[in-house]
Amino acid sequence: MRHKITVVGAGMVGGALAQRLAERDYADIVLVDIVEGLPQGKALDILQAGPVVGYDSLVTGTNGYEETTGSDVVVVTGGIARKAGMSRDDLMMINAGIVAGVVRQAAAASPEAVLIMVSNPLDAMAQVALAVSGFPRQRVIGMAGVLDTARFRTFIAQELGASVRDVQAYVLGGHGDSMVPLTQLTTVAGVPVAQLIAPERLEQIVQRTRDGGAEIVNLLQISSAYCAPSAAVAQMVDAIVLGTRRILPCSVHLEGEYGITGVFSGVPVRLGAGGLVEVIEVDLDASDQAALRRSAAAVEQVVGVIERNRDRIEGGLPELLPHSSS
Ligand code: NAI
Ligand code: 2OP
Repeated sequence: MRHKITVVGAGMVGGALAQRLAERDYADIVLVDIVEGLPQGKALDILQAGPVVGYDSLVTGTNGYEETTGSDVVVVTGGIARKAGMSRDDLMMINAGIVAGVVRQAAAASPEAVLIMVSNPLDAMAQVALAVSGFPRQRVIGMAGVLDTARFRTFIAQELGASVRDVQAYVLGGHGDSMVPLTQLTTVAGVPVAQLIAPERLEQIVQRTRDGGAEIVNLLQISSAYCAPSAAVAQMVDAIVLGTRRILPCSVHLEGEYGITGVFSGVPVRLGAGGLVEVIEVDLDASDQAALRRSAAAVEQVVGVIERNRDRIEGGLPELLPHSSS
C-alpha cells in the first residue's frame, strides 16, 4: 500500500514541499488549506507535472480533513509567514491558535501519524502540537536544524570554494537568534573548520547563519524562504517514510538529554519509521552546552507567554510546561 502524507498549509513552503514529495513517487499527498481553491489548484498543477517528470503520486487538494484520514506523516506549515521587520516571536499568538486548530483536526483524522512541525516560532509551535495532539514525543518533531545547518554548510562551502557535500556541521538549539552552530564539530572533508577559516571570519559566518531566515525575508519582501525549508522537511519525511534511520538535527521534546527537560530544542536525533528513534548526545564543550541551555530557556520563555495567554486561543490549550513553575 502507498504511504499517505498530509501537508497542511498550501502556501510557499507547503506547495513546494508537496511538489518535492510528489516527485519522490513513494506516497500520495493531501494538501490542506483554509483558502478555497488554493490547495485544489496547487494539487492539480503538481498532478499535471507527473507525466512530464514521471511520477504517479496522487495529489489531492482540500479545505477539510476527511481526505487526510490515515496519513502516515502530517506536516504542518499552516500559519502566517514572517514579513520584513517582523520577528518570529511576533507570530506567536496568531500561529499558536492556527496550529492548535490544525493539529486537533489532523491528529483526530490520523491518530498514528508522525507530526512534523514547520510553522513559526518553530520550537514553541511543536510544544503546542505535542500538548494538543496528546501524541508521544516520538511522533512530534520540529524542522529547523536541517535548514539552519544547510545554511551554515552553504556559507562555509562558499567561503572555501568547497563542495557542500564535504562540509559536515550541526546547528543545534532553538530556531531563532539563540541557535547554536557547533563550530568545534564542523569539518570539511574531515578537517576541523577552525584550521581552515580564521576565528573572526568564522564568527561572521555563524552570525549570517543565525540571520539566515531574515536575510531571505529582507530580499524577497513578500514571503520568507521556502526552497531550502521544503528540501529540509522532505529529507526528514524520507527518513521516516523510508525508515532510513538518518541522524539529523531536529527539534524534539527533551526529557533530560543535554540537561534540558520539558522543552523542545534542536539536537541530533535518529529518525526512522515511527518518528524519533533516539536522541543522540554528542559531547559538547562547556560553552556550547551553556549556549544550548540558554537557547532552551529562550524557547521556554516563548512557550510561557503562550501558556499564560492560552485562554485567548479558540478552543483553549492544555498545559504546555507541566514541569515549569511559570
Ligand atoms: P505562507 O503564508 O505562504 O503559507 C501559509 C499557509 O497557511 C497559507 O496558505 C494560509 O492560507 C495557510 N493557513 C493559515 N491558516 C490555516 C489554517 N487554519 N488551516 C490551514 N491552512 C492555514 O507561509 P509559508 O512561507 O509557507 O510559511 C509557513 C510557516 O512556516 C510560517 O509560519 C513560516 O514562518 C514557517 N517557516 C518555518 C521554517 C522553519 O525552519 N521551521 C522555514 C520556513 C517557514
Ligand atoms: C526561516 O528561517 C522564516 O524561519 C524561517 O527561513
